Amino acid sequence: DIETKVSDLLAKMTLEEKIGQMNQYNGFWDVTGPVPENGDQAKKYEHLRKGYVGSMLNVRGVKDVRAVQKIAVEETRLGIPLIIGFDVIHGYETLSPIPLAESASWDLEAIKKSSEVAAKEAAAAGINWTFAPMVDISRDARWGRVMEGAGEDTYLGSKIAIARVKGFQSDDLSSHFSIAACAKHFAAYGFAEAGRDYNTADVGTSTLNNIILPPFKVAKEAGVRTFMNSFNELNGIPATGDKYLQRDILKGKWGFDGFMVSDWGSITEMIAHGYAKDGKQAAQLAVNAGSDMDMESYLYVEELAGLVNEGKVDIKLIDDAVSRILRVKFELGLFDDPYKYLNETREKQVMGSQEIHDAVLDMAKKSIVLLKNENNLLPLQKEGQKIAVIGALASDKTSPLGSWRIAAKDSTAVSVLEGLNQYSGNTITYSKGADVALGKTEFAIEVNINNTDKSEFAEAINNAKQADVVIMVLGEHGYQSGEGRSRTDLGLPGVQQQLLEEVYKVNKNIVLVLNNGRPLTITWADDNIPAIVEAWQLGTQSGNAIAQVLYGDYNPSGKLPMTFPRHVGQVPIYYNYKSTGRPTLPGKDVVFWSHYQDETNDPLYAFGHGLSYTTFEYSNLKISNTFSNDETIKVSVDLTNTGKLKGKEVVQLYLKDVFASVTRPVKELKGFELVELNPNETKTIQLVLTKAELGFYNNQGEFNVETGDFEVYIGGSSKTVLTDTFKL
Ligand code: IFM
Repeated sequence: DIETKVSDLLAKMTLEEKIGQMNQYNGFWDVTGPVPENGDQAKKYEHLRKGYVGSMLNVRGVKDVRAVQKIAVEETRLGIPLIIGFDVIHGYETLSPIPLAESASWDLEAIKKSSEVAAKEAAAAGINWTFAPMVDISRDARWGRVMEGAGEDTYLGSKIAIARVKGFQSDDLSSHFSIAACAKHFAAYGFAEAGRDYNTADVGTSTLNNIILPPFKVAKEAGVRTFMNSFNELNGIPATGDKYLQRDILKGKWGFDGFMVSDWGSITEMIAHGYAKDGKQAAQLAVNAGSDMDMESYLYVEELAGLVNEGKVDIKLIDDAVSRILRVKFELGLFDDPYKYLNETREKQVMGSQEIHDAVLDMAKKSIVLLKNENNLLPLQKEGQKIAVIGALASDKTSPLGSWRIAAKDSTAVSVLEGLNQYSGNTITYSKGADVALGKTEFAIEVNINNTDKSEFAEAINNAKQADVVIMVLGEHGYQSGEGRSRTDLGLPGVQQQLLEEVYKVNKNIVLVLNNGRPLTITWADDNIPAIVEAWQLGTQSGNAIAQVLYGDYNPSGKLPMTFPRHVGQVPIYYNYKSTGRPTLPGKDVVFWSHYQDETNDPLYAFGHGLSYTTFEYSNLKISNTFSNDETIKVSVDLTNTGKLKGKEVVQLYLKDVFASVTRPVKELKGFELVELNPNETKTIQLVLTKAELGFYNNQGEFNVETGDFEVYIGGSSKTVLTDTFKL
């Protein structure tokens, strides 16, 4: 069995070879070209040949992966294969919507399928391991990486975490179509203060245990084989050096037997945090805390042998880390055949195959959220309309790919303009109006997002004047969210807001299509623009999905996984907040209650909000008052399609524990179901609450279910329509 194989191999390894398994290098030279002769690259190459490298990231494609794998397998003493990692975040070369968008589908099967095809394409390119899913909960839209997560809610985020892990890994990790997943970033990275990436996180035990950790825990239970720790410190300890998180909770209490990779350079960064005095101490702190693999700090390979010899690091910890890494390599089948992922014919067949395009198109349609649709402006007629399309993003074939698209080629997305032309016989005229940013937006290149150039406004306004309907595609470029892309303002970047207002003056029949990687404060648009469609960054098939929704070939059913604020000053804003002692206006003109002087407490769009081209009505809420034998409480409700079109609705169940030994949120999502109904059809939907779903962690980290009163809320968003109570 695998455990015996792991210990047999471990027994044969020298200390240096063991440490080598804990060392991960970025792809560092043109692996199929001449070998590096001097400098750091030559050193890394030498390490690879000696067996001092256990993993590489960002080497991709069968040819390149074979080149490095061959060195590991054929030139090193023990021939231990590398595990090849890559950020397959929302696809490999063919891209799905960004993860936040996928989460808006609330469609767990589609999300699982999307991860499955991403794994298939990546595996065909020689990848064994993705650094996904990111399961960080975040309540702060200023943080650019909200695009990579499942939004603000722990319950929804947990279900999606499971779907993604199962999609990437399948039931058989040794299949050459599946890859190992990685739950990241452990932990609290999404709680960076003020939404500034990499910033300090300072959260109490209640938030840590009830909000942040559960998606990681379920990912572990779903069998995720790796975790990544995070750049941030949490309550004074950098996560990379946090023994409590990694050893006590993850490997101890939860019994995780896969391995923990550090984030890029995060071991070295403990020096800048003021936690380690030098690289040697950083390596010591990280390994003792439970970081098994060093991504690009070069510190394990340089310092660990000395630390073991000096007795500062117990060899047992090294053996434990190496066993974990070898275990996953065995499970992937890399020892049976290190070249099993490396088949040129398969690579050609799978890359960009019809199956993958179908899955990402399906996912893209399901990710779109109809935010507003006054007087049924949407769907649009397919013939006989003069349509003006305005906005730089409408013709952009790269931006829809979103952030984290390293293997996707530029300009491979279907643009909105292309999609609109393909699906209708309307007369479509296009004007850019304004750029979204100054300069070319690219990975790792900072751009000035405050474009002030209005020179192309006039043409756009003229175009709008002649049209029956104006489609304005505005928002953020794909690289205006993502890692390192925090913002203090959540409006439309550059002069897009002015453009929208100018066009509105000449034609009010506007459909605003948003492309963005985070909630935006489009409060003016909501007050004025009749139809608003949230189309995120939808990946390779973006324009086709948007066109199908705008023309009514697909009836939208997405629901927001994150609250949209009215104003950036409301952030962090989320639906499952605590009541406070002064939640409501006590009387006329009284100032002393929890509110703002200049804005309401309400969001612009609530968590869970999303419309359809049909309408739904909820009735007949029933609760089975006590726990049945299987320790569940059953909640049922009738859902009727009261409109004229077939459509889908996400029935959402929220719960409030009215009094508890630790205050509980005003409501929390505890169940949902995606239901499809024909016009006039009614279905009774039953949602099941388990006993555990009624409980919470107290400040000592103990999980309890307390007796007392509970309120149940049901509806099509967190602004629910039906309510009832039960007693436990
Ligand atoms: O996986 C990522 C991580 O999320 C951020 N830092 C770099 C890693 C590898 O690319």
